[in-house]
Amino acid sequence: MKTKNVYINTIGCQMNVYDSGQMAKVLKHKNYKSVDSFSNADLIIVNTCAIREKAVQKVYSFLGRLSALKKKNTGLKVVVAGCVAQQQGAKLIKRFPQVDIVLGTHAINQLPDLLQKIEEFPQSIVENEFSEIIHETVPSGIAMTQKREVTGFVTIMRGCDNYCTYCVVPYVRGREISRKPESIINEIQMLVQSGVNEITLLGQNVNSYGVKEGLTTFPELLAMVNDIDGLERIRFVTSHPKDLSDQLIESFGGLNKVCNHIHLPVQSGSNHILKKMNRKYTREAYLEKIEKLRAVSSEIAITTDFIVGFPGETEQDFNATIGLMETVQFDSVFAFEYSDRPEAPATRFSDKINLEVKHHRLQCLFKLQKEITRKMHHSLIGQAFSVLIEGASKNQLKKISTSAMVELSGRTSENRIVNFDGSPDWGIDIDSLKGQTVNVEIVKAFSNSLWGVLSEHLIEYLKSEGGHSHVA
Ligand code: 5AD
Ligand code: SF4
Repeated sequence: MKTKNVYINTIGCQMNVYDSGQMAKVLKHKNYKSVDSFSNADLIIVNTCAIREKAVQKVYSFLGRLSALKKKNTGLKVVVAGCVAQQQGAKLIKRFPQVDIVLGTHAINQLPDLLQKIEEFPQSIVENEFSEIIHETVPSGIAMTQKREVTGFVTIMRGCDNYCTYCVVPYVRGREISRKPESIINEIQMLVQSGVNEITLLGQNVNSYGVKEGLTTFPELLAMVNDIDGLERIRFVTSHPKDLSDQLIESFGGLNKVCNHIHLPVQSGSNHILKKMNRKYTREAYLEKIEKLRAVSSEIAITTDFIVGFPGETEQDFNATIGLMETVQFDSVFAFEYSDRPEAPATRFSDKINLEVKHHRLQCLFKLQKEITRKMHHSLIGQAFSVLIEGASKNQLKKISTSAMVELSGRTSENRIVNFDGSPDWGIDIDSLKGQTVNVEIVKAFSNSLWGVLSEHLIEYLKSEGGHSHVA
């Protein structure tokens, strides 16, 4: 069979990154090779995101660009997958006739069959039915990674039953469904065998894993994953504050592979707005969870998501968000201006906030967080961390190196990026350094990363710097 080239453009969250990986894998078994440019592709897949209007616009502009390409290369096939495919269905084909297959969020496993179908009957196909079960995409026994990766994602559940009023996810990802623990463990074991050191478990609300189906609970699943030989680190996203149980909080102290970081989206610091968002917790309840987390692990890194300019958000509500940021001192935050989503109830709420106010609030929030992160990063100078090497630093990738030493990049358990010079005796084969854990002392702090020195080279470094750690 002739090898074909597939180009996958992934827009959106880690779940989409995982799904794109799954598509690449099922296609690999049908003789498709993943390529980095769409100019010589036989198949182009755009895996889409509908969470905010901007993400949807990105999809439409990409599809627009494909129309000329399709005219030139008549054999080219175009697939739209993910949340916009689920949401728009046949409307996508009407607007973009260059699309051959619309592949909804529950249909990834059908991709090879649908491709075969359009080869036989050249007519566009829309497949966006919701399914009651999770179809395992890759049969067990098939090696999961194509090249040596240090970190990997594993989806443990799909969909969401929470219906936050701003959010499109329940409408495009469907009801919450958990995968069976055995398939999850099996998938992780295979990833570990192929060299992966760190796993991130994915779900819209991992804290409610298994509850509906009466399966293993999430803390129990974590304990099972923790027992996997050869696996070094476990992360998970996303946690809903209302479902963060005491047992899960205890896992940060009790399970040695669980990283010292939690992403706990709060969205707003105002009870009035949290209620309108249907988040089902109060500011006070959120702060209590933070206290409990810090009681179990005092140095735990906490990150969050905020939405500014939700309908009806007053200055006072926004100040409550700012106050919460000052109280919690998040490690870092993701923050977004509220965006109307067609199916989400908040779209029909009155008291929409105007664009300028939303921009201004977002800028205020980022300014404060920049200062908090700066102070936090500076407080880390002089401390040593275990860093899992992920590869060359961005800086190293930019330079044409002739030196015998490479600049490497990795993460601490707290998920902070640390860049540092490797050892001259390690050579320059970056692939052989990936996945090693080394002790690094922080000597400089930047707003998005830290600069460190291998602990074994610290004395030499300090001598060369005149005896002082450097504060950037
Ligand atoms: N507008 C702006 N931000 C949103 N998010 C989800 N829906 C919207 C929306 N309609 C943000 C939330 C969520 C993150 C993934 O995206 O903060 O946690
Ligand atoms: Fe959306 Fe809320 Fe579900 Fe998160 S918990 S995916 S914000 S509905």
